Amino acid sequence: MTEAATTPARPRVLSGVQPTGALHLGNWLGAIRNWVDLQDSHDTFFCVVDLHAITVPHDPRRLAEDTLSTAALYLACGIDPQRSTVFVQSHVSAHSELCWLLNCVTPLNWLERMIQFREKALKQGDNVSAGLLDYPVLMAADILLYDADRVPVGEDQKQHLELARDIAQQRINARFAPDGEHPILKVPEPLILKEGARVMSLTDGTSKMSKSDPNEGSRITLLDPPEVITRKIKRAKTDPVMGLEFGNPERPEADNLLGLYALLAGRSREHAAAECASMGWGSFKPLLAEATVEALRPLQTRYLELRSDPATLQQVLRAGRERAAGVATATLERVRAALGFLERG
Ligand code: TRP
Repeated sequence: MTEAATTPARPRVLSGVQPTGALHLGNWLGAIRNWVDLQDSHDTFFCVVDLHAITVPHDPRRLAEDTLSTAALYLACGIDPQRSTVFVQSHVSAHSELCWLLNCVTPLNWLERMIQFREKALKQGDNVSAGLLDYPVLMAADILLYDADRVPVGEDQKQHLELARDIAQQRINARFAPDGEHPILKVPEPLILKEGARVMSLTDGTSKMSKSDPNEGSRITLLDPPEVITRKIKRAKTDPVMGLEFGNPERPEADNLLGLYALLAGRSREHAAAECASMGWGSFKPLLAEATVEALRPLQTRYLELRSDPATLQQVLRAGRERAAGVATATLERVRAALGFLERG
């Protein structure tokens, strides 16, 4: 780590993505691209949350490879291991340990009312694990272990961050450090990211681009080859109106694809809107496909380089684990002491 990255004056940020399936344009434009910018001003921790990936039925033959490819994609997107701590959640056992301690102070009904749990549980019918209910407590452990000042969150994760704050404040600090002594856990703030990067599905402009949509044509993954990108865009949902525009509630697909074009071609929204105002879908789609292919090209090249050198990637994850474990262990010990556990001799 460089000197600057460890200076305590830099507020700390932590975030993570699950290694379930390939990362897509929504993950990149909505999250990881912003992480890259945060590296200049924050002490940044980025983990691949593999323990979260097993809260729904998973394929053990894919978990390790998906974890590695997600880490490589972080780096390919511009996360710089010299400035950021990049690691795998399950490599730092403090995540599971703090999760248990937090479990025992978190009211069950706080978890039962989580919107994402309700939605996922509904989809899965009878086959819901205790881990799925516990998902937000594990996420709270991820955040609280690192004394994160800020957590970049989209709309769908706000409730989980709120839960992490409530656990830290009401269930740990208020109970176990009641006299306004030094609080045990830092209470994190949400970091609301600049808007304009909410990427919607290619097949339905009103729902978010998602890894779990069974229709692969609904998303462009970061590793899709040019011909796949072109085909998915060609088949993307359109409407019968001529000309692209922003903000027309009747035309969510136009808004989404024009927004993607602006981001991927590096145009301002005004510029993109003016350029495409009288363009038919037939001319717009190849333009968008071209912009997407070109925007992903350097990232894909870098990814292949990283994957061709497994030793280096492994070294990055090992160094990340060591730095992460140092911070996490200190927090875990603080919580253990506050809860009254016997010291490890
Ligand atoms: N639940 C987050 C998501 O699906 C992933 C996540 C796990 C996370 N732990 C985290 C995000 C800690 C931020 C901080 O997007």
